[in-house]
Amino acid sequence: CWQIGDYDPRDPLTQEALAEAGRLVRGGGLVAFPTETVYGLGADARNSAAVRRIFEAKGRPSDNPLIVHVANREGAAAVARTDDPAVSALMEAFWPGPLTLVLPAREGAVAPEVTAGLPTVAVRVPDHPVALALIRSAGCPIAAPSANRSGRPSPTNAAHVREDLDGRIGGIVDGGPTGVGVESTVVEPIPGGVRILRPGGVTAEQLAAVAGRVELDPALQKEGPEDAAAAERFAPRSPGMKYTHYAPQGRLAIVEAKDGDPRQAAEYIRRELEAARARGEKTGILTVAEHAPWYEASADVVSVAGTLADPSSVARGLFAALRRFDEEGATFMLAESFPEHGIGQAVMNRLTKAAGGTRLRV
Ligand code: TXA
Ligand code: MG
Repeated sequence: CWQIGDYDPRDPLTQEALAEAGRLVRGGGLVAFPTETVYGLGADARNSAAVRRIFEAKGRPSDNPLIVHVANREGAAAVARTDDPAVSALMEAFWPGPLTLVLPAREGAVAPEVTAGLPTVAVRVPDHPVALALIRSAGCPIAAPSANRSGRPSPTNAAHVREDLDGRIGGIVDGGPTGVGVESTVVEPIPGGVRILRPGGVTAEQLAAVAGRVELDPALQKEGPEDAAAAERFAPRSPGMKYTHYAPQGRLAIVEAKDGDPRQAAEYIRRELEAARARGEKTGILTVAEHAPWYEASADVVSVAGTLADPSSVARGLFAALRRFDEEGATFMLAESFPEHGIGQAVMNRLTKAAGGTRLRV
């Protein structure tokens, strides 16, 4: 594990660490590294054997394609067709940053395992000096999913990566905790706009200001338990969206108040937690700092994601808050629900997945 504190390109130790990490990637190894969203598990995107090692290390289904990380627009143009003016406008507005574009792939530019055989490739320029320095040091496009075991919450610091992947990867570049905390927004261009395949760090509102029409993939509009026919109808277009993700070991449900009053939801939550505790469960609540005192007496684990006053802090702290339930051995957990606009859309998407789609309206 190479530690890089405040990124300083003139620091010889930093240079040495990045040179070594870059050599490892070029040699077909796996290196975890920080991005502005979450930590990624990187390999040379052109190297089939290296990319297959990513899937093995994560226990990831091989039909779920990976995002290719490049240092700039030229890097993107080398792996995908970027000549569409609408695509240029998106790259100009949001790169470097948490926007992933699904574009027609240039044949042979990346290993077929990266795209899981699709004719498209997902590509982004991360907004993190360590990620960009690693891409440059490796001298190749880097295929990188989030650096967690498949199904676990994505890692937002190096300790999370170690927890999940220690002994299975070549190294970790530790650049401290990530800033955004949820993964990038994945979009595909459509006539006159974009379709969001996965909500993330760039909000729908921000996209609308640049792209015009913003559609949500139908698979996103219908989260949660569905009958088989509906499931068929809403078959996800982004392969990653069909798997259970982020789930803690115990049972988790989201509670939303019908009238939007968090105190009403809290009352229900306290009652349910106390009943669960009486059954012998170890109880947990996922909440915000402002509401934490409401639950102190009823929950064994009060896991605070962030503050109500700053929705981006909830995104930043969400995955660590979910991991905490497992660290403390909670078996029965409830989560408050968050307003579903802005970054809240990504937060509620991840939380809903973590809860296996269980959202209680009380
Ligand atoms: O913020 C992020 O995006 C992080 C950091 C490391 O960059 N990466 C990340 O990768 O979240 P991963 O593999 O966990 O998620 C990639 C998502 C999946 O939902 C996958 O199905 C989708 O992107 N995806 C990749 N290639 C695609 C394609 N050609 N068409 C549609 N969806 C694609
Ligand atoms: Mg992931």
